Amino acid sequence: MNQECKVGILGVGHALPKNVLTNKQLEDIVDTSDEWIRQRTGIEERRIMSDDESLLGLAVDAAKEAIESSGVDPKLISHIRVGVNTHLRFPSLASLVQRELDIPDASASDVSAGCSAFVFGFEEAYNYLVVQKIYHKRDTYSLVIGADALSKVTDWSERQTCILFGDGAGAVVLGPVDSGEILATFTRTQGKYADLLYLDKFLSSSLEDSNQMKMKTREGIVYPYLKMEGRKVFAVAVKSLMHDVRAVIDRYNISAPEPISLDDIDYVIPHQANLRIVSAVQAGLKLEDSQVYRAGVVKYGNTSAASIPIGYVEELGKRPGTLQVDVAFGSGFASGAILRREAE
Ligand code: ACO
Repeated sequence: MNQECKVGILGVGHALPKNVLTNKQLEDIVDTSDEWIRQRTGIEERRIMSDDESLLGLAVDAAKEAIESSGVDPKLISHIRVGVNTHLRFPSLASLVQRELDIPDASASDVSAGCSAFVFGFEEAYNYLVVQKIYHKRDTYSLVIGADALSKVTDWSERQTCILFGDGAGAVVLGPVDSGEILATFTRTQGKYADLLYLDKFLSSSLEDSNQMKMKTREGIVYPYLKMEGRKVFAVAVKSLMHDVRAVIDRYNISAPEPISLDDIDYVIPHQANLRIVSAVQAGLKLEDSQVYRAGVVKYGNTSAASIPIGYVEELGKRPGTLQVDVAFGSGFASGAILRREAE
């Protein structure tokens, strides 16, 4: 890695809807039980956006917290990426965030990569900042947000899916650092699995309402719903997450001054899809409970693109100087990992 160019996380933030939906409450909505949901997913409760909340509002609140904790003047942010799957309209959520935060002249756009959208946006931001520094000798900053409200595309009569998801947003500010640098990123997509997790309506019609994902078509009002083949998703997710942890280490090692191995990794923040997926990945990588972030999915469910930056808010700064990997998996199947050193 080029020692002249260290880019890392300068600040983190998150925002969650106020409304808590417990497993017990779900028993009144579909034929399920608190016990089944805990055993099969580890989830205890999740946050669901109310009518007076919006995805933009969550994204902006998370971004404000990240900017404040970074101490960076927002006017110096020249790049914004928002990993999101449930904005489903234009202009991009990133443009709207830029307007709300009054950040002039940034390059702002959304990234669509399922639950891995934050990692894809993070990789774009990292590459951008490295190019700015090495080729243009310019220190600048990027804001990366992961925000999703899968409750808006959930079929609340389908018990296999509606128990899994929650809404939320998380954000980071990336920029030059003295320590706590990003060491490598890795992303990939396995399009052959695209039919295992998708939205089931083509969004060709104008959205009828700014907050609800319903559309007026010739056939009447239709709702785009998330569809998933749970067991198949589960199996590929576990393999893919493990693969990507190893792949990001391999990528770093190509030009590392001192190659590292899995044994050197102190902590992993996996996408919080489901505690059984997290446990299977943990067992496959031979990691202890204390080395893996597991708490997010229990409290917030699967928050899609938001789950890793929400994890940052709870975990970053606790293990100074250690090597860590963040790893995500989602629709597409898009997946990816970030290898970082935590700041001293
Ligand atoms: N409550 C009670 N019973 C249920 C429920 C529920 N909520 N959902 C399914 N069941 C029943 C099924 O009907 C089935 O009953 P049957 O045997 O009488 O037919 C039984 O439970 C077993 O169903 P499976 O679908 O085989 O259950 P499984 O153990 O696979 O768990 C689950 C289902 C939790 C969805 C699991 O497959 C899973 O977690 N998959 C991964 C999903 C995921 O994480 N997706 C997102 C990852 S990518 C991303 O983050 C976007």
